[in-house]
Amino acid sequence: MWAILLALCVLVYVVLMITFNKVHRKIFPAGRAPLICGYLPYIGVALDYAKNPCKYVEDMRKIYGDIFTLYVMGTTITLIANPHNVNKVYISPKNFDFHEVGFAIGVDVFDLPQESIHNDETAHKAMSMIVKKLQNVELEEMTQRSKQKLEQLFSTSEYTKEWKQVDMYNWINNITVSIMMAVLLGEEYNPEPVLRTFQPFDKSIPILSAKIPEGAKTEAKQLRRKFMDCFLGKPNEGAIGLIKERYELYSPLYNEQQLSNLLGVMVWASLSNTTNTMFWSLYHFMKQDESVRQQIFDEINQVLPKCEPGKLPDMSYETLASMSKLDAFIDEVLRLHFSTFSGRMTMNDVKFAANDGNTYHMDKRQLTLLVNSHLDEEIFQDPLTFKYDRFQDKTKVFSKDGKPIKLTSALIPFGGGMNLCPGRFIARSEIKLYVIALLVLFDFELPEDQIAEDLRNVNLQVGPPNNSISVKLKLK
Ligand code: HEM
Repeated sequence: MWAILLALCVLVYVVLMITFNKVHRKIFPAGRAPLICGYLPYIGVALDYAKNPCKYVEDMRKIYGDIFTLYVMGTTITLIANPHNVNKVYISPKNFDFHEVGFAIGVDVFDLPQESIHNDETAHKAMSMIVKKLQNVELEEMTQRSKQKLEQLFSTSEYTKEWKQVDMYNWINNITVSIMMAVLLGEEYNPEPVLRTFQPFDKSIPILSAKIPEGAKTEAKQLRRKFMDCFLGKPNEGAIGLIKERYELYSPLYNEQQLSNLLGVMVWASLSNTTNTMFWSLYHFMKQDESVRQQIFDEINQVLPKCEPGKLPDMSYETLASMSKLDAFIDEVLRLHFSTFSGRMTMNDVKFAANDGNTYHMDKRQLTLLVNSHLDEEIFQDPLTFKYDRFQDKTKVFSKDGKPIKLTSALIPFGGGMNLCPGRFIARSEIKLYVIALLVLFDFELPEDQIAEDLRNVNLQVGPPNNSISVKLKLK
């Protein structure tokens, strides 16, 4: 009796699933990217995808090719892989829009108001201000503020010529938070509340952005509130011009809480990737042979003036920008540890002529994720190995499918096209400054058995390590 009932249930389930998959194939007829529905109504492939997005997408790419669509939680997401295709998307911002996706993240993750975020004129003014200040006007001031704060941090009694052991990630996080807060919000701003609340909020972002019932997000929302409350009130006089002017621009539109969220987004953007990139840079530096470490030191010594022991040499934004070996080192860190898929929304019905020779029809308002090829062995030989000089030869041509690709299509940690990260110059400069400060001022010892595991599979831009790494350090 039970066996018959069970057999009937299985039969009903199979029939339902076949119908469900057929329904979806009808909605997506020929000329569309292959649709992968999974076998759970509404949920689709969400569970498999969420377990390990990068691996799942790579597995599907091997079966279905560079363009395919996933059915996830009642909606569809089109994935586009291969630098030739990704580049085509980047250079068509009218068809593939970044801001629609950015707005949705602003609302879901950062609790920005739905209505005023669409105020195009203000959003446009704010973005021009960000680009102008972060890519030009305030670069030098930010660099000098960071340098001063670094010197101040490392001259306290906490650091001596005796070895001390620290948890490397927490230590770096404390440094980057203290410095970034002084850079953005001024010396008088107390970074303690941000130190307490930033990491818990950062870890809750996958939950806040997930398409799950709002009730399942209660704890994540509380962590977000604690972080955002650090920024209530008008910015200090000592805050950098960008922060003060952005506050003035949005004051007539936003209430106090919304203004603090707006500042919280900028603080998060300036910290999240920078802290993690900084961790991996120092980690890989310590794992290199003495001869490689010496090459990096030689560049520091050649480019920067000599200074007394225990002090940092004078550094301008321009001198930091000229350090090509350190730049290549950071590029390799970003290649190996940046995992996110950049999001775009189709703003029209699009006929996408893909690299495989097919033309795919995509409907207006199709969410599209661009898959980076940072671990593609056809482009990057031995892709899971850190090679400090992989990007040193700037004339080197990479290729995919037998055709050359620009480095800016192969290596995309800052996104691409019109929406390239506006913070990329200051981010590089800060990371170099921190690395130089640590190398010039400290001796480090990382035991060989300390191996940091990458959380790449959770698809978090540059992710933190998955395990705790202890390092010994002392002032030189
Ligand atoms: C290693 C550090 C960083 C990485 C890897 C990174 C990465 C990114 C990426 C991938 C995007 C999306 C671009 C796209 O999809 O085409 C982005 C956007 C953005 N980033 Fe960064 N970022 C970093 C540091 C910073 C810093 C330090 C700031 C600010 C101080 C910043 C501010 C922004 C802003 C405001 C946007 C939105 C741009 C827009 O709306 O067009 N980022 N970043």
